[in-house]
Amino acid sequence: MFRAWCVALISLLAGCGGVSGPAAYDTQEIDRIVQAQRAKSDATDAARRGQAVFLEGPCAMCHTIRGTLAMSRVGPDLTHLASRKTIAAGTLPNTRGHLAGWILNPQNVKPGSRMPPTLLASEDLHALVAYLETLR
Ligand code: HEC
Repeated sequence: MFRAWCVALISLLAGCGGVSGPAAYDTQEIDRIVQAQRAKSDATDAARRGQAVFLEGPCAMCHTIRGTLAMSRVGPDLTHLASRKTIAAGTLPNTRGHLAGWILNPQNVKPGSRMPPTLLASEDLHALVAYLETLR
């Protein structure tokens, strides 16, 4: 709805831009805003999908994320994961890449870790990490 409205606005403004003079709008700036808005809603979509991956996959059997149905205490509570500087008991900087690597193969990072490897399609993994990054 918002997007449709923006597109309508842009075509309108692009039309105005044709009329030279002080009333010309900066359509590039508007493009940029619309792009940013789109990227934001794509990120939200990924995070939403990532939450489903988490809750429907094995993760929820071992972890708690408060406010969701994940309430297990086998592994650490992930409610504020994204606020942490490191993961896996300080072994790894908390970045996208390290999170993804950890999920795919915790033993590789921390031999003897009790978290099992989880094989995920790359889209699911991407969404899952996007979701974990929202857990502030
Ligand atoms: C069988 C139980 C189990 C499953 C399934 C599991 N984990 Fe874990 N997880 C653990 C344990 C135990 C740890 C602590 C490991 C350690 O530090 O050695 C851990 C650690 C983590 C950490 C690091 C947390 C911190 O505080 O540093 C993250 C992030 C994580 N798990 C995410 C996930 C995700 C995402 C999934 C699903 C793909 C998942 N886990 C599935 C048991 C599990």
